[in-house]
Amino acid sequence: MVFSKSFLVAYGFTLLPGLLSSAATVTPDFFEKHPHTRHQINSSTVATELGSQLSNGTLIFGSDNPMYTNETVRWNNYARPDVQVIVKPAAESDIAKIVKYCDRNSFEFLAYNRGHALTTSVAAFSGIQISIDGLQGMTIAPDKKTVTLQAGTYGSPVIAALWDEGLVTTTGSAPCVGLMGPALGGGHSRYEGLYGMVMDDIIHYNVVLANGTEIGVNATSHPDLLYALKGAGHNFAIVTSFVKKVYPGENWYLKTYVWTQDKLETVFEELNKFAKSANGTTPPRMGVNYGAMIMNPNISTTEAVLEWGFNYAGPAEEAEKLLAPFNAIGAVAENGSEVSYPEVAGVTSYSCPGANRIISTALTLEYNVTTERAHYNQYLAKLAQYPELASGAYLYYEGYATAGFQAIPSDSTAYPHREENFIVVFFSEVPDDAPHLKEPASVWAKEAVDLWNEGQPGRLPKVYVNYAGGQAYQTNEQMYGYEPWRLEKLRALKATYDPQNRFRFYAPIIKQACA
Ligand SMILES: *[C@@H]1O[C@H](CO)[C@@H](O)[C@H](O)[C@H]1NC(C)=O
Ligand SMILES: *[C@@H]1O[C@H](CO)[C@@H](O)[C@H](O)[C@H]1NC(C)=O
Ligand SMILES: *[C@@H]1O[C@H](CO)[C@@H](O)[C@H](O)[C@H]1NC(C)=O
Ligand SMILES: *[C@@H]1O[C@H](CO)[C@@H](O)[C@H](O)[C@H]1NC(C)=O
Ligand SMILES: *[C@@H]1O[C@H](CO)[C@@H](O)[C@H](O)[C@H]1NC(C)=O
Ligand SMILES: *[C@@H]1O[C@H](CO)[C@@H](O)[C@H](O)[C@H]1NC(C)=O
Ligand SMILES: *[C@@H]1O[C@H](CO)[C@@H](O)[C@H](O)[C@H]1NC(C)=O
Ligand SMILES: *[C@@H]1O[C@H](CO)[C@@H](O)[C@H](O)[C@H]1NC(C)=O
Ligand SMILES: *[C@@H]1O[C@H](CO)[C@@H](O)[C@H](O)[C@H]1NC(C)=O
Repeated sequence: MVFSKSFLVAYGFTLLPGLLSSAATVTPDFFEKHPHTRHQINSSTVATELGSQLSNGTLIFGSDNPMYTNETVRWNNYARPDVQVIVKPAAESDIAKIVKYCDRNSFEFLAYNRGHALTTSVAAFSGIQISIDGLQGMTIAPDKKTVTLQAGTYGSPVIAALWDEGLVTTTGSAPCVGLMGPALGGGHSRYEGLYGMVMDDIIHYNVVLANGTEIGVNATSHPDLLYALKGAGHNFAIVTSFVKKVYPGENWYLKTYVWTQDKLETVFEELNKFAKSANGTTPPRMGVNYGAMIMNPNISTTEAVLEWGFNYAGPAEEAEKLLAPFNAIGAVAENGSEVSYPEVAGVTSYSCPGANRIISTALTLEYNVTTERAHYNQYLAKLAQYPELASGAYLYYEGYATAGFQAIPSDSTAYPHREENFIVVFFSEVPDDAPHLKEPASVWAKEAVDLWNEGQPGRLPKVYVNYAGGQAYQTNEQMYGYEPWRLEKLRALKATYDPQNRFRFYAPIIKQACA
């Protein structure tokens, strides 16, 4: 999602000497068994019991520490877990020890990197946050075919470091977002027309299972878990590092348009045609087009406009030929520029601000122009009723080039919806000083998603799991697929790899804890 941004602080913390876990008094917790849930959980207890087992530089702290605020920043303030204690490991090998400690003591744990979870399901969490955002290792293989990344890496530094070597890889669209968080649910990417989703380029995962066991997962080691990590991964393990394919990079062409509302039908009709224009798909190098139906006071204070950006992996001349139908529509403003890949990917934005966000979403094969006109009318009607939502509410459209992504067999990964062409999203920010607007924004979110789904009669509602808001109306089938074998397979893998359902806070396949 490019308009949306992740956040969290730029990497780099001041280490407060008193917080180094190595300074904690040693009382190895494995001499004491705690068979029952301990509700009194605080950082001094954790530091005393666990600290000595962890590597030098690991931090353990609670809400009384000045670092706590930054280390619990979230993109969606409505998706806020209850973090009682933070353990920020200095080494990958610490993660298994932290998980085993949590298991012995019946503490819940939740991995945190860039805090970009949209889903309110994470708000059910209360316990120990494992902050993996300090794990920033990046090693490009000598043959320049793969890169090994630690789990805390994220868009900007990865894109920049690869570009220095003339390389690129699939990442999320916003440069402030982690690589692994999106990859666990798929990870749509500017490069997916050529190389598939972020997860499709990962060939090996090092993970910690729910019981603290460390394993390597790839095509020959736990291939069943490899399937699950690719699309439902948040339910199965904590990834500590991974190996990902990289490719030679190129400069991109970026074209933006602003259209007035009278062009709405033409724009969506042309987008539908475009999605089939290259042997049935979007031209593979036209990596993505992002659009929004949004208020832009520079153009009009009474009518929403359509703002669209097309990102092309290649020169202006090639792109402009493909864009001829859009040039012909007649934009009120447009601009085109050739930029390096890091520029198109926006690598200078390391952080993305958090807000109170209400989100709903759907997937579609094509845009229904009648539906989109109904959205436009509804948008104006809602803003007339709730003017305070005007600055933060919009309808958002993503059309990725699907060729590379659809070339991968659908049944080879847990990601279930490779056939869909477009992602549509309703967004509303609720101002801090207007909490009474949360309810109307939630009602609008539901109405918007119903409109999109009614606009594709005979099709089942589906969502991209990473954009799922966590509402009760969002079913497992919508996120993980309707074919009965898909959820059966995932539940069977849960029984093998996470029988106690420790991983149940991000878009959970099974919501309840198991005894
Ligand atoms: C928190 O993050 C902000 C923004 O990056 C930074 O200015 C501030 O120093 C950080 N505070 C602490 C205690 O690390
Ligand atoms: C932490 O919890 C322990 C055990 O419940 C308690 O004895 C101790 O006073 C607590 N420390 C703080 C700083 O709250
Ligand atoms: C831990 O790291 C600090 C700072 O790098 C160093 O001064 C200290 O000697 C280290 N302690 C151990 C036990 O390695
Ligand atoms: C697959 O994972 C296993 C276990 O970590 C590892 O020994 C093996 O080298 C990996 N294979 C490849 C091709 O990476
Ligand atoms: C369609 O596929 C053929 C064969 O792969 C290719 O030569 C041609 O360029 C493709 N057409 C478009 C418009 O991408
Ligand atoms: C409106 O125009 C101003 C000045 O060119 C610009 O700074 C601002 O970003 C524009 N606003 C929008 C919503 O495009
Ligand atoms: C067009 O985009 C380029 C690159 O982003 C920018 O430098 C330029 O100011 C833009 N031109 C207009 C008219 O907005
Ligand atoms: C568009 O949506 C309407 C419902 O709003 C529906 O009646 C119509 O069949 C849809 N058109 C297509 C082509 O699916
Ligand atoms: C941890 O879980 C894995 C997967 O279920 C299992 O193979 C392994 O034996 C378990 N390890 C321990 C120590 O229980």
